[in-house]
Amino acid sequence: MIETLLRYNTNAPRYTSYPPANLFKPAVSANETERIWKDSNSLNPQNLSFYFHVPFCVKRCLFCGCTSETLHDENFRNQYFAAVHKEMDQKLAWISNDRKVTQVHFGGGTPTSVPLVELEKLLQKLRDRFEFADHAELAIEINPATLTEEMLRTLASFGFNRASYGIQDFNPETLKIIGRDPSLMPVKDLLELSRELGFHGLNLDLVYGLPGQTAKSFFASIERAIEASPDRVALFSYAHVPWMRPEQKKLEEYHLPDAHTKMEFFLKAREMFKTAGYVEVGMDHFVKPTDSLAIATQNGALHRNFQGYCTRETTGQVYAFGSSGISQFDNAYLQNVHAVSEYIKRIEANEMTEIRCHELSANERILRNTIERLMCNNRLCVTAEERAVLADGWDRLTALESEGLLTKVSDNEVIATELGRLVIRYLAAKLDPLVQNKKTEGVFSKTI
Ligand SMILES: C[S@@+](CC[C@H](N)C(=O)[O-])C[C@H]1O[C@@H](n2cnc3c(N)ncnc32)[C@H](O)[C@@H]1O
Ligand code: SF4
Repeated sequence: MIETLLRYNTNAPRYTSYPPANLFKPAVSANETERIWKDSNSLNPQNLSFYFHVPFCVKRCLFCGCTSETLHDENFRNQYFAAVHKEMDQKLAWISNDRKVTQVHFGGGTPTSVPLVELEKLLQKLRDRFEFADHAELAIEINPATLTEEMLRTLASFGFNRASYGIQDFNPETLKIIGRDPSLMPVKDLLELSRELGFHGLNLDLVYGLPGQTAKSFFASIERAIEASPDRVALFSYAHVPWMRPEQKKLEEYHLPDAHTKMEFFLKAREMFKTAGYVEVGMDHFVKPTDSLAIATQNGALHRNFQGYCTRETTGQVYAFGSSGISQFDNAYLQNVHAVSEYIKRIEANEMTEIRCHELSANERILRNTIERLMCNNRLCVTAEERAVLADGWDRLTALESEGLLTKVSDNEVIATELGRLVIRYLAAKLDPLVQNKKTEGVFSKTI
């Protein structure tokens, strides 16, 4: 089975957006940007999601592909948050406040690496202007290496109710190689305390394929994760992209598991999670059957964006603030400049922060929607209109039946086989004209 899967180990987008972020078009004028934000008010979904990027970490981990910088001095940090407030002052006025907030997500970087009151001030600004839905999801990404009990209590008192903890691996040697410290609190206790404080949908991030990982150490880590009893686990394939993240070059001095070993790791870990009662969600998540993501999967209501898998119920159009943040509207994506100092400089000079803007054509919306449905549900049933837009893409996809990657249920419906769902990015790429026109070559990580 592994040999067969490796045949599909090609470079392909992860499809957290369509088109992929590095193929968004350049920014448009300030007036056009304002128009796009305002247009989103009349589009669906009507509920509001907000994303705040906190681009700081106490220290950078060598494996990391995220956009962050080591924590600068207090003055620089204050300048950053002043800039985010100024960006909000300008742009929140463009969003109708008859719409309700169902989700706020703080990502990074490490949002808990800054004084937590900064996060509360941003939340307060939203609360001053918008009504929050009952049970709105307030989510935060946390590196548990620097999280104390007191900090967690403070976050709960601000209304946070969902946390994602970056564990990566439990093995101290692997952590040392990638430049990370272990969780301050034992992870099991951390999850128990989180629940006591009202958090739910608790997630652990784990990564397979890291340098120094052996079968023994990795499966021991999976056992530790299962013992801790998270609601969700995101099991990411280590993306080695030294051309984008030069620090990762250092990891080549250690033994990096090859694609075959990585697949073995994934398949065995998948088995372990399933045996422990977890349900497979999307291409790399395992969740308890009672978790909202499992229920959404069952109902075909799973959704995916830059913040990960989510449910259609909670996730609205996403309004992003801060450096590198990507707003995700029904008809457009807009991305802010990555470098923190450049973001601050532009805000202070009253210049636009966007470096990219991509308004989706009607055909691109259909492509985005069909690729997302295939990636979330491992099946795809298309309308006549969608099939006409997919054109050759639909033929390329359905031709994979002869390779055992999918089954054709009818002329307009396919279901990925067990084999196909393990390489779902490969299937999705068949629908993508950008891949066929070689616009994505040399840009993306391997699918395994
Ligand atoms: C923005 S980070 C936030 C986590 C938090 N700062 C921490 O360190 O715990 C989100 C997650 O992306 C994943 N990640 C980062 N770099 C990766 C890479 N090169 N390959 C695969 N996953 C990666 C990690 O699992 C990480 O927890
Ligand atoms: S893994 Fe987390 S703490 Fe480490 S560099 Fe990436 S964002 Fe920062």
